[in-house]
Amino acid sequence: MADHTESGDMLIDLRSDTVTRPTPGMREAMATAEVGDDVYGEDPTVNALEAEVAAVFGHEAALFCPSGSMANQIALQLLAPPGAELLCDADAHVVTYEMGAAAAYGGITSRTWPAVGADIDPDVVAGMIRPDGYWAVPTRAIAVEQTHNRGGGGVIPLDTLRALRQVADAAQVALHCDGARIWHAHVADGVPLATYGALFDTLSVCLSKGLGAPVGSLVVGAADKIERARVIRKRMGGGLRQAGILAAAGRYALAHHVDRLAEDHAKAARLAEAIAPFGVLATPVRTNLVPLDLTKAPLDAPALAAAARAEGVLISVLGPHTARMVTHMDVADSAITRAATTITRILRA
Ligand SMILES: Cc1ncc(COP(=O)(O)O)c(C=O)c1O
Repeated sequence: MADHTESGDMLIDLRSDTVTRPTPGMREAMATAEVGDDVYGEDPTVNALEAEVAAVFGHEAALFCPSGSMANQIALQLLAPPGAELLCDADAHVVTYEMGAAAAYGGITSRTWPAVGADIDPDVVAGMIRPDGYWAVPTRAIAVEQTHNRGGGGVIPLDTLRALRQVADAAQVALHCDGARIWHAHVADGVPLATYGALFDTLSVCLSKGLGAPVGSLVVGAADKIERARVIRKRMGGGLRQAGILAAAGRYALAHHVDRLAEDHAKAARLAEAIAPFGVLATPVRTNLVPLDLTKAPLDAPALAAAARAEGVLISVLGPHTARMVTHMDVADSAITRAATTITRILRA
């Protein structure tokens, strides 16, 4: 996509935090990365990244994967055998955007609790669990999303996660975290990544969302699980060769781009503050996502997106009356000011 509008203004791309381009420092790290064949386990940069991420989350091992979807789906296949059941919320990425992979590749059925974003009631989840037996589909895994994508970047409170861990332990069911944006939760709530790590059997974490790497996610867990994960990854076509070039971007992102997420949260808060008077903020903004509910607005989501695009501001349409703006490292403060002016002008018209 071109970077400018026809009239020469810079495009402000608020559709997602996946649209970032590698910084010069990141490109330099990629260009100079030491590499080897990772399917042979011989890429030193991949091995270093995996060890680093495992340590940060207090787990034994981690596995580099091409995408967050693959990392999630490998984890689910580790936790639930074919014919068993996954519980998650109705808006979860794993059942909304991963193309039915749990069923298609893992033979896993999914049952959902109503979409409440990060506002999970552990008793509701506990009440859904089915025990092992020959008469009903056994629940083997629960997945939560931190932060919650369709839940407007909401952060699941630590107490809720602890309660869910107890629910999972009592029922001997595994707990997975889709932590594509767990870094944002860590920065927003100040919860150490290892504290999150200790609560889950497996986590998937992404380097290619707010952290700004071009590619890469990891599955994190116990050493025996990650050994099995390596087999599943290969089966799914995710074995990469000189992947150190990509892992180097991830290592750079971890070193330089975690703490700065606070800036993206501040930018999202500024956007939210600007649009709040129009009554279109779907949920309070906690991190870098700004979810819009346009039910009471004079125009629907496609119309708002089209009007904004005509002025060089790109936003995502999620439904007829729902849209989203996402802040990230490639939108400067001045661009946020311009985007806020543009969106509020359209909403006022
Ligand atoms: C919460 C969440 N999980 C998983 C993913 C999947 O990541 P990928 O696009 O790398 O497959 C995304 C992507 O945006 C996401 O938002």
